[in-house]
Order: sequence, then structure tokens, then C-alpha cells
Amino acid sequence: MVERRIVGLPLEHVLGWAEFCGLRVAVDPGVFVPRRRTEFLARQAAELLRQAAAGQARRGACRAGGRTGRALALAPARPVVVDLCCGSGAVGAVLAAARTEIDLYAADIDPAAVRCARRNIGSGGSVYEGDLYDPLPDTLRGRVDVLVVNAPYVPTEAIGLLPPEARIYESRVALDGGVDGLDIQRRVAADALAWLAPGGRLLIETSERQAPRTVATFADHGLAPRVVECDDLDATVVIGTKPTNAGDRTGRV
Ligand SMILES: C[S@@+](CC[C@H](N)C(=O)[O-])C[C@H]1O[C@@H](n2cnc3c(N)ncnc32)[C@H](O)[C@@H]1O
Repeated sequence: MVERRIVGLPLEHVLGWAEFCGLRVAVDPGVFVPRRRTEFLARQAAELLRQAAAGQARRGACRAGGRTGRALALAPARPVVVDLCCGSGAVGAVLAAARTEIDLYAADIDPAAVRCARRNIGSGGSVYEGDLYDPLPDTLRGRVDVLVVNAPYVPTEAIGLLPPEARIYESRVALDGGVDGLDIQRRVAADALAWLAPGGRLLIETSERQAPRTVATFADHGLAPRVVECDDLDATVVIGTKPTNAGDRTGRV
């Protein structure tokens, strides 16, 4: 193991796992190592789910109370969560392990990542292989409450500046975001309205420098954006909300 680390393999590939939000996440050779800063993305998504579950429980209790005013416990619908560009499935696995019960779907284009995510997510959700939304079941259209995405966002020219652990031992498709780094984010945002439920949220990790362009992309595609940051983890996430009266750009409302 020491020899493998000395030649440059990421520690997590040598060990076969990474710690992420307190979970031990399997990381196979070539698969993107979940970064500490992405814990912020996972926690933001978990907090939105917690709030949504609390809101649903309150509404359910009010409805059930009806004329008697008695608050009966109704089983609230489980929020639908999609972890797109899931890599090892670290973010989805954390959300599946959190206290809020969810219906989890994850997808990635890299077969090695998909195999790894299936192990990490287990019976907590379903993992699909393919290009962005393509492999997801059609029945999810217009029903996704939280769409959480850590897509590649390194500008092509900057890949050569990454440490060898990333540059050599992680797959190019996990890193390369095109000329300005935002190619995949733009494609995700362009189709988000069609998949999100009214009031649903798209959360994308980005960098402080790229955030203004991520925000503009969200707004261009009908999402109301806001930026949240964590200085300790050097993490930036843009959260876009689908307006409750928005159609999905196919004419449906
Ligand atoms: C930066 S890594 C993030 C992985 C994981 N979400 C995490 O935070 O650890 C980006 C992931 O996006 C996947 N990816 C890149 N292009 C994709 C595409 N067009 N469709 C689906 N997944 C894609 C890569 O295979 C890689 O696993």
C-alpha cells in the first residue's frame, strides 16, 4: 500500500474507501474520490429534505385534522431525490442514510462509477448508467423534489494544473467541464424544469469564481437561483428553485 501511495495513487484508491459525512464510501480505481467540500452540497440537500418533510408532515396533520381539528398522523409522501453525475454515489448514500425517508435515484455515465455507486447505495436507491437524465425512468418527469449534482466543472485547460492524484488517477470524464468548466452544468440546468416538481430544487456544486455564471445559467433556464457558501470547506453551491407556477417547457404545468 505504501508503494502504491508513493507512486501517486490517491490514498482513497489505495485504501478502497473514503470518509464522507461520517460514512465509509467505497471508491474503486479510476472513480472520482468524493471531496471534503462536497459534504457541504450533501448537507444543503439534506437540510432541504428535512424542511420539506417537516412541511409535509404539518400539512398532512392539518388535512387529517379536518373538521374535528384532531391531528392524525398521515404517512407523508417520500420526497423524490436524484443524484446526477453520482460518481461513487457518496452524496446519494448520505441522503439515503439521513433520517428523512426518500426515494433515491442516481445516475452516472461511467460504468465503473455506476458499479461503485450500486455498492454504496445498496437497497437505499436505484442507480442508472447513461448520459445525464437519459437513463432515468420517465415516470420521474415533473416529480423530482431535490436534484443534487456535482458535475465535472474543471475548465479543460486547468486539468493540467491539477495534482497528479486527480490528473492521472481519476477519469477525465469526472473532471473535464469544457472550455469554461460549465458545459455539463448548462446541460443539467437546461432540462431541470422538465424533471423538477413545482417548487423542486436543483443544487449544483461550483466554484466561487464560476458561481456568477452558474447563477446566470440557472436564471436563463427558469430557475430562481441563490448562492450558499462555506468558507471552512471552500465550497460553493448554487440552489435553483422551480417556480410553483412554472411549466416544464413542454407546455405542461
Ligand atoms: C466531479 S465527479 C463527482 C462525483 C460525485 N457526485 C461526487 O461528488 O463524488 C463528476 C461525475 O460526473 C460523471 N459524468 C460526467 N459527465 C457525465 C454525463 N454526461 N452524464 C452522467 N454523468 C457524467 C463522471 O463520470 C463523474 O463520476
